[in-house]
Amino acid sequence: MAPTSIISSNPEDIKHSLKGQSKTDPSEFNELVEKLASIKPVGWAKSKREPITGFDPEWANRLPETTRERFAKHGVDITRGYPYIPTTDKIPKFVDEAHAIRNEEYPFIERGKNADPEKKALFGAAKDVVHLTPHVGTEIIGLQLADLNDKQKDELALLIAERVVVFFKDQDLSPQKQLELGQYWGQVEVHPQAARIGPEWDGITVIWQEYQNERNGLGLSFQNSRKGNSQWHSDLVHEFQTAGITHLHQDSIPDVGGETIWSSTYGAYDKLSDEFKKFLDGKTAIYKSAHHYLDRENPLRGPKNVEREHPIVRTHPATGWKYLFVNRSMTDRIVGLLPDESALILNYLYSVIENNRDLQVTFNWQRELPGLKSKTDGKKTYRGTSALWDNRIANHNVIHSDESIHGRHGTRVTSLADTGYYDPESKSQRTALGLRLD
Ligand SMILES: [Fe+2]
Repeated sequence: MAPTSIISSNPEDIKHSLKGQSKTDPSEFNELVEKLASIKPVGWAKSKREPITGFDPEWANRLPETTRERFAKHGVDITRGYPYIPTTDKIPKFVDEAHAIRNEEYPFIERGKNADPEKKALFGAAKDVVHLTPHVGTEIIGLQLADLNDKQKDELALLIAERVVVFFKDQDLSPQKQLELGQYWGQVEVHPQAARIGPEWDGITVIWQEYQNERNGLGLSFQNSRKGNSQWHSDLVHEFQTAGITHLHQDSIPDVGGETIWSSTYGAYDKLSDEFKKFLDGKTAIYKSAHHYLDRENPLRGPKNVEREHPIVRTHPATGWKYLFVNRSMTDRIVGLLPDESALILNYLYSVIENNRDLQVTFNWQRELPGLKSKTDGKKTYRGTSALWDNRIANHNVIHSDESIHGRHGTRVTSLADTGYYDPESKSQRTALGLRLD
């Protein structure tokens, strides 16, 4: 029997068939491993659905109305299908291949470092600048991101480094302009296998929870709502140079729900005692990727993540403030500790980040507050909302319910930042600002 004819597209079935193949010809075995490798890395690791690569023919028809309007206005062709996932020959199969991506230092300019600390060019052009909490989250009103000059972009980078996340509503932003902004702030991350708006649009990642849920079998439901991006996490911490300014532009937003929460890890560090800070300063941890790959030496041993080591306490190059660099989803273990010790300490740090509401901002993406009497929503027209956060100094989490994922669609551009360093001379945010701790 030809190997291909006995293979199911379900990775679990393949594993079982491989287990029974110990006496087969090595070339047949290799072919089976290749087949397994071509399936496993696509989409979510637990997905049992057959993956589609290339253009998705079915989902283009399900794109929300305002997303279509944005794409039509700015020249994104969806007639070929949507979204686009790189073909299997372009996707790393083995973990060493995925680890080799951007595995060496490359130049990075911290744009906020030399910005005017008063941000006169940015604030002077805005109609209003509103701080949403004392230290986390600022909304800029009356300014189009697409119109910012370089001086304003530098000042915005500093504002994001200070305030963790900055919001712009009522935006008309082309994917091209979103990409261009990202390129100004750093090397734009190109994911080897994430859905994108087309093959010519490397660096623009599709964030479409409904697609992720149904197409990739994420399994998000009302009774199981902590899946994917509705768990506390930071993006792309397995990169050699981790994500800095991360820009999510929602071009379709449900009428109500789907708020996102950001928690400041500057603040989380400041919640700790001086003795505990001393214990953590200088320690490192291992961080893992969201996607899984095969172990080349033993493809049957189960999926493996890309892993990288970073300091747990890092210093932000623009503000000079110390921050905690851990998150529940992607931090695996503290180097040098026993597994139980590491788990105990990490769980405590996660609880500080997740449970202190004074470190957090909760943001409604809607252009107008839901329920406003003055809302005249006859026909929906495209005006998007952008959130730009510094992924180094935040954990985030989306409040998803079964209702809020329908009709939600966005594009994300991530600027990769520094390699991550700890400066023993640097201060915490509250110490630097002269604020009390007790
Ligand atoms: Fe995220």
